[in-house]
Amino acid sequence: MPTMIQGQLAKFNELVLDKYDLFFPASKQVFLENCLRERLLLGGYGNYESYYNCLVGDPEEMQGLIDELTVNETRFFRNLGQFKALKENILPEMIEKRNREVVKSWGDETRYWKWGERHPLMHFRVWSAGCSTGEEAYSIAFTILDSLKFPRAWNIEITATDINRSVLDRARIGAYDNNSANDIDPDMLTRYMDRTEAGFVVKEFPGRLVKFYESNLKDLSAGRGIMTLRPADGPGIEFDASGYFDIIFCRNVMIYFDRTAQTRLVSTLYRCLKPGGFLFTGDSEPLHLFEHGFNITTEGDAVYYVKPF
Ligand SMILES: C[S@@+](CC[C@H](N)C(=O)[O-])C[C@H]1O[C@@H](n2cnc3c(N)ncnc32)[C@H](O)[C@@H]1O
Repeated sequence: MPTMIQGQLAKFNELVLDKYDLFFPASKQVFLENCLRERLLLGGYGNYESYYNCLVGDPEEMQGLIDELTVNETRFFRNLGQFKALKENILPEMIEKRNREVVKSWGDETRYWKWGERHPLMHFRVWSAGCSTGEEAYSIAFTILDSLKFPRAWNIEITATDINRSVLDRARIGAYDNNSANDIDPDMLTRYMDRTEAGFVVKEFPGRLVKFYESNLKDLSAGRGIMTLRPADGPGIEFDASGYFDIIFCRNVMIYFDRTAQTRLVSTLYRCLKPGGFLFTGDSEPLHLFEHGFNITTEGDAVYYVKPF
């Protein structure tokens, strides 16, 4: 059995911190060591030094390790209070405002809009950052669809990103077991999912609204809002996400980062929102520890952050 010499674990720790912002405190070092041992034995690298050298030069092995190291726990409508706030307050206000803007634009609409086409002002751009197996992104899709009278008249773009390829593969399929159904309102379940032998699968229309990409939040922060989105096949797409999104869900992701990376991420998320846009973070990720420009809103047990105009 290969053994680790002093300082080696710290080197691996630095490597994943440097590439992905993932931080393993003392309490998680055993987990890190176990994952490294497993990958080392699986690949037959012999010792930790060879394995380290391989990781530095082989993106495929790095990806294999990352798929093991990330914690992907998630569920539909996690933190229900936040989805209630989205449905009861945020979306109705946003829809009304967009509708008003459309009416106001009627004077010059012919310049860019024809009957039968979606009006360019009627859009939602939402980002599920650290989407794991997709439950969060689909919960957002179901909520938006339930809030719209004529959903097909709207351009609904839900961008869902993660660094773990295996969870993204599962998310794209959109198939979930029977237990997952317990987290979804039964009427909603019937509207947006089909029953299968093993559980449920997301129907075609809600499924089409969500696009899953591999994307590293570390690169986004370092690139000050420039996002690289890698689809399942085909080359990565780069775009400037500054001021792009109406709503961002980045929940239960930054708990795995160190303080420096968390601070950087909070300001990048701020940058990626439109003025007036909304940020949801996880229950254990309050932003009061950071300097930020958001206004804080509390509704029942839900907390969210609003970028001022
Ligand atoms: C615990 S899950 C949270 C899933 C969902 N947001 C939720 O709250 O239910 C955390 C996810 O963040 C992803 N993640 C961790 N570091 C990341 C990074 N640097 N860039 C993108 N995603 C990352 C992990 O792969 C994992 O799937």
